[in-house]
Amino acid sequence: EKGGYEHFMLKEIHEQPTAVKTTISPRINNGMPDLSECGLTPEMLKNYRKFFIVACGTAMHAGMVGKYVIEKLARTEVTVDIASEFRYRDPIVTSEDLVIVISQSGETADTKAALHLAHEKGAKVLAVVNVKGSSIAREADMVLYTHAGPEISVASTKAFSVQMAVMYLLAYEMAYAKGTITEEECRRLTAELQKIPEMIEKTMECEDRCKYVASKLITATSLLYIGRGLDYTLSMEGSLKLKEISYIHSESYAAGELKHGTISLVTDGMPVIGVATQSDLLEKTVSNIMEVKSRGAFTITVCKEGTEFSEGVMDEVIEVPVLEDILMPLITVIPLQLVAYYTTVLKGLNVDKPRNLAKSVTVE
Ligand code: F6R
Repeated sequence: EKGGYEHFMLKEIHEQPTAVKTTISPRINNGMPDLSECGLTPEMLKNYRKFFIVACGTAMHAGMVGKYVIEKLARTEVTVDIASEFRYRDPIVTSEDLVIVISQSGETADTKAALHLAHEKGAKVLAVVNVKGSSIAREADMVLYTHAGPEISVASTKAFSVQMAVMYLLAYEMAYAKGTITEEECRRLTAELQKIPEMIEKTMECEDRCKYVASKLITATSLLYIGRGLDYTLSMEGSLKLKEISYIHSESYAAGELKHGTISLVTDGMPVIGVATQSDLLEKTVSNIMEVKSRGAFTITVCKEGTEFSEGVMDEVIEVPVLEDILMPLITVIPLQLVAYYTTVLKGLNVDKPRNLAKSVTVE
């Protein structure tokens, strides 16, 4: 059942090329994104007053990538909320808004409550869900299923990638509907998205390197993940993945925010994982990495292949293929998942079933 892999998590990491392909292929028509299967038309996307994305944990991180990509391309404001916060903060949602809930299981209590709240306020709900026929899928007004197949490992991997993939399709369709990108640009972006399964496969070549880096982390008691922009979102996901299965404390921080407090935690040998794939932010992130390095940190950097750094700043580098910046999250997540996985395996812990966690959080 594990298809020759030692754990479900590793199997699911390797299933990502297929999962993404299966999720995007039926939604691309003649080279253009097409989400009409769920009843969502370009006209509707153009007319909503406001967009909310609500989810928990890893699904919320996919929502953060979605916010970034939608705002960048469609120039439309998107609010992202943790479901347990959204439901109690009396959000300003109206019947003219679209609330997008993201959930692998479709049974998460807080996400379901957020959906109910959206309905009470008269808003329409679009659900991005993996499990067919789940509560959230049944109760939403529109459903876009992710086609990752069953995810058994408690730590979510392939579900995250397909959630992101749907966010990109949504962003492209919305941007084209709003006229913020041309048809030509929309076609180009869609064609690039179709290359992602192959690029994920190529990214898997960093597996041995990730295993080696993991061997350097097993004695750590605390770790920092830093990044800016899309890299910050990914560093949040990397940090969550590592802490939930390896039990090593870790925190993700916006790189520019470090000197407002968190940098005082950095002592000799503390591992700091810098995610630095965004070209326009590279220099800034690197200067933050240099700051922690000069305080003794053990620096690990995830970056595009061929990125050059000054001598002695990076202790370890994990390179991923070069894509345009906006698409980097779809492959950058791979080394982050693999580092978390191998750190846990090397520590001899139960990768697929970490303590205190359930696959589906059906109570508040
Ligand atoms: C982390 C993880 C959780 C889930 C979260 C939401 O690896 O699996 O953070 O992402 O509990 O679950 P769903 O997507 O089922 O609503």
